[in-house]
Amino acid sequence: MHTFTPEQFREFQADIDGDFIAKTKKTLVLVGLMGSGKTALGKRLAVALNRAFVDSDHLVEQEAGLSVRDIFDIGGEAKFRELERRMIAKNLTGNPVILSTGGGAFCDPQTRAAITKQAISLWLDSAPEDLLERIGNVASRPLLADGDPLTILSELRTQRLPAYSQADLHVVTGPDSRRVSMKKVLCALEESGYIAPLPDPKPDTESSHKA
Ligand code: S3P
Repeated sequence: MHTFTPEQFREFQADIDGDFIAKTKKTLVLVGLMGSGKTALGKRLAVALNRAFVDSDHLVEQEAGLSVRDIFDIGGEAKFRELERRMIAKNLTGNPVILSTGGGAFCDPQTRAAITKQAISLWLDSAPEDLLERIGNVASRPLLADGDPLTILSELRTQRLPAYSQADLHVVTGPDSRRVSMKKVLCALEESGYIAPLPDPKPDTESSHKA
């Protein structure tokens, strides 16, 4: 579980318009390709809904004591997926959290079935060009190491579309600011009835009289 510094908290809060409350007791799971904003928006969503934020790649790294890159190098993708499946399953029960998943997690049939049964999934979808722009340095993404990253991202998007499109919610983000993307995410959750905006606090009539 991540804890935010007061500075981070203020930074994330600045990207959220209004106050919200979760109407669902389920964990909200962000799925989608690398660079789609799962971690950045997940942290903001956690602040917006006053929930803990959990990142599956981080949990896998903690469990293995190795970086994602090293797990791929030593144990291969199969080992990584096995750890990922286990770490995600652990976080679907208990206190509801905001769970950001690695890009391939929702494409693993067992992981997808567990998420579908126990949580609410939101697919963050972007064009490959926008994904690459947000990823920046591709060194930490083993799947982008063997070839042209833009071509790989386009192919991955095509391959994974059938899995991602099974998510409960679909939010398309372009080269938007985090604030704009956050608005889209909160709107989608509100329209589906999973969260509700809190009313604006009543104006303080005493002090407005005095003004
Ligand atoms: C992967 C995405 C990565 C990480 C691993 C595999 C994928 O996570 O889980 O490199 O299969 O798309 P991010 O989506 O957080 O980059």
